[in-house]
Amino acid sequence: MTNPTSPVSVLFVCLGNICRSPTAEAVFRHKAEQAGLRLTIDSAGTHGYHIGSPPDKRSQATGEDRGYSFKGLKCRRVADDDFEKFDLILAMDAENLKNLRGMSDPAYHEKIKLFLDFAGYENEEVPDPYYGGKKGFELVLDLIESASDGLIQSIKSR
Ligand code: 4NP
Repeated sequence: MTNPTSPVSVLFVCLGNICRSPTAEAVFRHKAEQAGLRLTIDSAGTHGYHIGSPPDKRSQATGEDRGYSFKGLKCRRVADDDFEKFDLILAMDAENLKNLRGMSDPAYHEKIKLFLDFAGYENEEVPDPYYGGKKGFELVLDLIESASDGLIQSIKSR
């Protein structure tokens, strides 16, 4: 049962589901628990390059340094029934957003948004860190922490 005015389930989506969206899942789960919110939180990728793999080691190392747990996370691809199951589907970048909208019935498009719509940063996208260095992974975490705080405030104020 979905409820767009008071979301209880959130799906984070990026391309590979090994860097950005599992980081968002780990950070948001931690912050939601701290805020006392009981939510269903998951992540997935629009492509299936790494299905079954744990998150990227660089994402894990950077996130664990800030106290987030990636235990048990495994890459999966977005499934057709995700669009019905989740109240909010949050894309890391504009390409993910476009792909998600292309994969789904227009009836679901209202619940598919850019995650950084909830951030205090001016960036619109969480940039793909996969082919870059450590700084890129730190930036991903900064943006995801900010957007997670914003999303929690938004959910609490509904
Ligand atoms: P993600 O990063 O979308 O944040 O998980 C990527 C992971 C893997 C690839 C690209 C981006 N890849 O090309 O394999």
